[in-house]
Amino acid sequence: MNRAIEKIIMDEKVIQNQVRELGERISSDYEGETPVLVCILKGAFIFLSDLVRNMSIPVELDFMMVSSYGDEATSSGIVQIKKDIDTDITGRHVIIVEDIVDTGLTLDYLYRYFANHNPASVKVCAFLDKPEAHQVDLKIDYLGFEIGNEFVVGYGLDYAQKYRNLPYIGILKREIYE
Ligand code: PRP
Repeated sequence: MNRAIEKIIMDEKVIQNQVRELGERISSDYEGETPVLVCILKGAFIFLSDLVRNMSIPVELDFMMVSSYGDEATSSGIVQIKKDIDTDITGRHVIIVEDIVDTGLTLDYLYRYFANHNPASVKVCAFLDKPEAHQVDLKIDYLGFEIGNEFVVGYGLDYAQKYRNLPYIGILKREIYE
């Protein structure tokens, strides 16, 4: 285990099982359709790549980069679009793919942003959710796991751009970010 990690809360096996189930559920719900999966960079890149490999329907992929955290451990609540999607989503089924929902401000913004472009539908698929931290009402259509208010890294999630490559979700030691 990485020395900066206090505890592993989801190991590779647990993660892969859950992602497989999500992929199967989405494939069955969108049978006959070709949804556009929008990966919210950077954090969701690993989740997206595992998710699509567990889907049996055709999909299109696009990538959006937004930032609300900077290098801080807490959310600033300010959403900035750093890279927009290229796909014309008019009349398309859009699935927003996120690694984590914390305050929910990013997702709330993104949902409204996509909904304004006349898609056929917009749904949300998030790997982790911290319900205690929400500052807005949200609907997560496809969720991997709920977690408490601890600071987690790995499986795409960073602290100051590090630890994204850990194959598990771990709680970061307080001394690393305090
Ligand atoms: C994280 C995460 C979400 C957002 C969630 O991104 O990927 O996009 O924060 O926080 P919220 O619910 O409080 O809005 P971050 O800005 O850290 O960028 P990253 O994905 O590049 O790490």
